[in-house]
Amino acid sequence: MRIGISLPDNLLGRFDDIIIKRGYSSRSEGVRDAIRNYIIQYEWMSEVEGERIGILSVIYDHDQRGLVNNLVDLQHDHSDIVNSSLHLHLDEHNCLEILMLRGEGKAVTEFSESIMALKGVKHVKLTTIKPGVEI
Ligand code: NI
Ligand code: NI
Repeated sequence: MRIGISLPDNLLGRFDDIIIKRGYSSRSEGVRDAIRNYIIQYEWMSEVEGERIGILSVIYDHDQRGLVNNLVDLQHDHSDIVNSSLHLHLDEHNCLEILMLRGEGKAVTEFSESIMALKGVKHVKLTTIKPGVEI
């Protein structure tokens, strides 16, 4: 199947640079891999079950209209799992927020996904730890 998508210039430029460095034969092959990784990440997140501690890092554009409010509202609505947050102003436009989460795995991943889906959120990474398990 063929699809058409619109992307910001710089995002496509950075993607193309990586494809060249990694030696892909075409942009399509890179996009296919990226989609597969996206699906694998989703599947991993949906399998997280039981009590978890989550460390969620979020990089976002604070100029995106309404985003800062949405992020704060989401954290208040889920104050049962959001234990604390750390905020760093990365540069003029970007913020890094690190949230410490604790709760049922499903709640932790669903909360993370709702942040991921917000417009203006550029990067989200969730690491989970099972409390009480010796490493
Ligand atoms: Ni607050
Ligand atoms: Ni900031």
